[in-house]
Amino acid sequence: MKIGQKIIRLDCVDSTNNYIANLIKEGAISSGSVIMADEQFAGKGQRNAQWLSSAGENLTFSFFLDGVNLSVERQFLLTQIVSLSIVKMLKNREVNAEIKWPNDIYVKNKKIAGILIENQLRGSLIKSIIVGIGLNINQTDFGKFSATSLRLEKDEHCVIHDVLLGFISVFNEKIKEIHSSNLQGEYLGKMYQRNLTANYKDKTGEFEGEIVGVKENGKLILLKNNIEHHYNLKEISFL
Ligand code: BTN
Repeated sequence: MKIGQKIIRLDCVDSTNNYIANLIKEGAISSGSVIMADEQFAGKGQRNAQWLSSAGENLTFSFFLDGVNLSVERQFLLTQIVSLSIVKMLKNREVNAEIKWPNDIYVKNKKIAGILIENQLRGSLIKSIIVGIGLNINQTDFGKFSATSLRLEKDEHCVIHDVLLGFISVFNEKIKEIHSSNLQGEYLGKMYQRNLTANYKDKTGEFEGEIVGVKENGKLILLKNNIEHHYNLKEISFL
């Protein structure tokens, strides 16, 4: 599996993820194709949120991978590969980033990138995936949001297309590790707030807890009153 053989650049689109979904319906996209847009007018985030990004200042792109053939129980592997690829690409630019479970990319306490993966299933198999990534590059004002960008971290203007090419080359190496036993360890090593006491909120309310790891199925493992609890995405928030 490889991405980036074909890169299509659009001026403006609702969402690069939706654009790929439409191409899939028409049977008009090949595996590995990358679609980037200078502007999205209905960018999608996780948990049904919007993804806001100033036109022309950031990298907003999606890619399509066909023939994934991974069972749904193992879909977290894809999250790990994409997150670790972004972290490595940033590291190559001397920016130290961490993964705020499950797949937000943070530099210190600010978000620099977000990932939205949408699966196409056949029975219990993931047949293909659309991976959408929003990476803050040259934007410097995020209003009320606690966010950062490459420009803010490096104090220099960055060429958006070069960042995309950097990601593609790291991802094409990382995807080869999909069945490597080391992936989980690598992900744990990059987890934001792991082994630190911090505030969280679950259905019982706010509490002090400690992230200790993540299950193979992607559930977060958190110590609360010294007891391990396992959480799905919608069951826990970071405070
Ligand atoms: C998140 O952190 O909430 C995920 C954000 C994902 C944003 C990217 S931008 C490119 C692609 N197209 C979309 O509509 N969303 C993703």
